[in-house]
Amino acid sequence: MEFQEVVEQRRSIRIYSDVPVDPVALDRILHVISRAPSAGNLQAYRVFVVSSAPKRRALAVAAGDQEFLAQAPLDLVFFADPGRSAVKYGDRGASLYCVQDATIAATFAVLAATNEGLSTVWVGAFDESAVQVVCGEKRLRPVAIVPIGHGAENPLYTPRRNLSEIVREV
Ligand SMILES: Cc1cc2nc3c(=O)[nH]c(=O)nc-3n(C[C@H](O)[C@H](O)[C@H](O)COP(=O)(O)O)c2cc1C
Repeated sequence: MEFQEVVEQRRSIRIYSDVPVDPVALDRILHVISRAPSAGNLQAYRVFVVSSAPKRRALAVAAGDQEFLAQAPLDLVFFADPGRSAVKYGDRGASLYCVQDATIAATFAVLAATNEGLSTVWVGAFDESAVQVVCGEKRLRPVAIVPIGHGAENPLYTPRRNLSEIVREV
């Protein structure tokens, strides 16, 4: 797809079929993630690929019963790595850069999945401790979960604020 088409095609999908994600497509998505920019090129994030049904179910519960996390064939969980960023950037690295690194990586995943003809939705509402338990990870901070799969709904595009409301020239 052309980049503009990817941007226009993407929308949040919350109903998925049980068709699995092609492992080759997943590999391409993971490669795109690794090309994301990061502070000092430290890549202070980790991506957990969750495909087991019990763990997807546990993620859905950790996210307040957001059922589509269990329904989609896989969920990517993006963790910030504060310690890795702090080594070079101190508090700013630990509190901000690693979260930005993980967020940009998740954004690349969403766009790469769209480019593969797959569907996603960004999930930010979850119990961080519960997600850590599901992933067996204590040190890193989960910042976003992105289910990936074949969408089984076709929602209308959501409206946006006018550019004049969000862009200011100074
Ligand atoms: C930081 C963040 C957190 C979000 N958390 C959730 C969530 O927990 N559950 C959900 O269904 N959608 C969540 N969304 C998706 C938004 O609701 C969605 O992107 C927005 O309504 C615009 O719709 P669109 O993605 O179809 O353009 C989140 C999006 C962002 C950026």
